[in-house]
Amino acid sequence: MINDYQQWRANPTEFWRDQAQSIDWFTPPSVILTESTDGSASWFDDGEMNSCYLALDHHVANGRGSQTALIYDSPVTQQSRCYSFLELRDETAKVAGMLVDLGVKKGDTVIIYMPMIPQAAMAMLACARIGAVHSVVFGGFAAPELAARIDDAKPSVILAASCGIEVDRVIEYKPLIDSAIELAEFKPLHTIVLQRHQAVAHLDKLIDKDWGICVSQAQPVEPIALRGDDPLYILYTSGTTGKPKGVVRQNGGHAVALKYSMDAVYGMRQGDVFWSASDVGWVVGHSYIVYGPLIHGCTTIMYEGKPIMTPDAGAFWRVIEQYSVNAIFSAPTAFRAIRREDPNGELVSKYDISSLRTVFAAGERLDPATQNWMSNTLGVPIIDNWWQTETGWPIAANLMGREPLPVKNGSATKPMPGFDIHILDDDGQPVAQGMQGNIAIKLPLPPGCLSTVWGDHQCFLDSYLSDYPGFYTSGDGGYFDQEGYLFVMGRVDDVINIAGHRLSTGDIEEVIAQHPDVAECAVVAMLDELKGELPVGFVVLNSSADVTSRGNIDSELSHLVRQSIGPIACYRSSYLVSRLPKTRSGKVLRKVLKAMLNGEDVLLPPTIDDVSSLDEIKKVLL
Ligand code: COA
Ligand code: AMP
Repeated sequence: MINDYQQWRANPTEFWRDQAQSIDWFTPPSVILTESTDGSASWFDDGEMNSCYLALDHHVANGRGSQTALIYDSPVTQQSRCYSFLELRDETAKVAGMLVDLGVKKGDTVIIYMPMIPQAAMAMLACARIGAVHSVVFGGFAAPELAARIDDAKPSVILAASCGIEVDRVIEYKPLIDSAIELAEFKPLHTIVLQRHQAVAHLDKLIDKDWGICVSQAQPVEPIALRGDDPLYILYTSGTTGKPKGVVRQNGGHAVALKYSMDAVYGMRQGDVFWSASDVGWVVGHSYIVYGPLIHGCTTIMYEGKPIMTPDAGAFWRVIEQYSVNAIFSAPTAFRAIRREDPNGELVSKYDISSLRTVFAAGERLDPATQNWMSNTLGVPIIDNWWQTETGWPIAANLMGREPLPVKNGSATKPMPGFDIHILDDDGQPVAQGMQGNIAIKLPLPPGCLSTVWGDHQCFLDSYLSDYPGFYTSGDGGYFDQEGYLFVMGRVDDVINIAGHRLSTGDIEEVIAQHPDVAECAVVAMLDELKGELPVGFVVLNSSADVTSRGNIDSELSHLVRQSIGPIACYRSSYLVSRLPKTRSGKVLRKVLKAMLNGEDVLLPPTIDDVSSLDEIKKVLL
C-alpha cells in the first residue's frame, strides 16, 4: 500500500489539497500553494477560516460542546478545573470582546506574558478569534528580552498575569513588565493583568487594567473570517545573533498541518486526551497544548508544575492516571529529571497508567539511554520527533496514526510528508549515504512552517534560504542511515539547547560583554547529563580590571545574564583566560573551545593564529 510520504511525493499539491478538506473552512481555498521567486511560500491563501472557530466553535456546532476541551492541573496551587468546549468557547469569546473594547483590530499585535493557566490559552484563542496576531513570551525571560519583543512586535496590548509560580516560589510578573515597558522604545496602550491571589499586582500605571473587571464588562464576540495567509501569531526564537527572530505563522497552513499531524503523527482521535507537558511560551505549547489538540477535538491539559518537585518524580504518572491521558509529549530533559530521582521507576508502579498509548519526545536529542529507560519503565512506544519553532510541527517522526515503523533509538525516524530532507556539505553538495552533514529541506516548505520573519523578510531570506539555493537551512547536523532513518545530532551553529529551550550563545556573549571589566568572551555549550547543554563562558578581562574583583566576577556575570536574559539561560560558569584562541583573521575558535571543554578530540584548523593560546585553556579546564 502506498504510504503518506509516497502519496505526497507523487503529488505534493494534491496531497495538501486533500488534507485541507479535513478542516471546516468558511470558504474552501481555491489556491493551494503560492510560491515566490525568493523561495518563500504560503498555503491556502484565499481560503476563509478562523483558527479559534476551528478549535472551539466548530466542536460546539457539531454536538461536542459538553466534551472536556481543557483540563487545568496545577500542583503548585493545588487547583484543577475542567472546561468543556462550550465553556472554553464562551470564556474566550468574552476575552475577545475585551480586546475589541480595548480597540484591538484585525492585524494588531498583542503580547501575552502568562504562566500555564487556562487564561493563557483563552488569550491566544481570543486574539485568533478577532484576527489579532498574538506573541506569547515565555515567563522565564527577563525584562530586557521582553522589551526586545515589545519593540519588535509593537503590541497595542499586553495580556499578563500578576505572577507565575516556580515550584514554591512566586515570581511577580508586573514589576518585570513595567521595567520592560520602560526599557522599550515602543509603548503599548494597555497592560491587562489577571490577578492571582499569590501576588496581587499594583495596577498603578495609567495603562494598567484588571483582567477580571474588563472581561466581566465585555460582550462575547463571534469569530471573524480570515484568509489562509493572514498571520496567526509571532513566536520569537533565538538565532545566531543576539536579536530574536519573530517566526510568523499563517492561519491556513498551520491549521491544516496541525490537524494532519494530530492524526498521522500522534495517532489521536476525537475525544482522546493529549498532554503536552511543555509551556505555552514555546512552540510545542502553541502547536500541541493549544491549537493542535483543540482543532482535532481532543482534550488538552495545561499543567502548571514540573516533572519533579511538584511534589515528586511521580507527578507525570499521577496526571496520566487522574485524567486517563492517552499520549504525553515532553522534552527528554523532563524524563532525564524523573529518571535521576526515580531510577528504578518505582513511582510509576504506584499509578494506573494503562490509558497511555504513546510517549512523544522533542525539543532536543533523545539520547538512547533515556529512550531505553523510558521504554523499559513505561512499556509503550517512545517516539522521538524532530522539529523547530520555525516549522511548527515535526519534520521527521514516526507516523503513529498510520503504520508505525520499528523504533531505532537515537533516530527521529523518517521525514514527514511535506519535508524533502537532504544532507549537504558546507558547499551545498549532497554527502554520501551515511555521512554526517547539514540538514537542509528542499523548498517549498510545507504548510504550517514560517512564512517570514516579522517585519524583516530579508532576515528570513538571509537566515534560512541563502546558505544553499533552493533549500531551507535547519541549523542542525545529522545523517541518514542505510534504511533512510534520520539521526539529528545537534546544532551546527551557535545556538545552544538548554533543557529543550533554545538560546543563542551570541546573545549571552553580548550580555557578558556589557560588564565593565570584560574585554571579550566566547560562550560555548558544555554537555550536561540533565539539561543536555549548559552555557559556559571563556572570559578575557580588561587590563584595567581590578584584580581583586576577579573573585566576584563569576557571580556578577551569572547575575548579569539572569537579569538580562532570564533564569532559563542557566549561566553559572565562567573561565577567566588571558586570550581566546582565534584564527589569523580574528575569528574566535568556538568549536575548539567546545571540544576542549567537553573532553572531545580537538581538530585544530590550519588557520589558527597562535597554538600556544590553547595551553592556558587546558590549564584552566583541569
Ligand atoms: N518563569 C520564571 N522562571 C522560570 C520559568 C518561568 N516560566 N521557567 C523556568 N524558570 C526558572 C527556574 O525557576 C530556574 O530558576 P533558578 O535558576 O532560580 O532555579 C531556571 O529558570 C531554570 O529553569 P529550568 O531549566 O526549568 O530548571 P529547573 O531546575 O527549575 O527544573 C527540570 C529542571 C528538568 C525539571 C526542567 O528543566 C524541566 O521541566 N525541563 C523540561 C523542559 C521542557 O518542558 N521543555 C519544553 C520544550 S518541549
Ligand atoms: P526550538 O525551536 O526551540 O523548538 O528548538 C529547535 C531545535 O531543537 C532544533 O533545531 C534541534 O537542534 C533541537 N531539537 C528539537 N527536537 C529535536 C529532536 N527530536 N532531536 C534532536 N534535536 C532536536
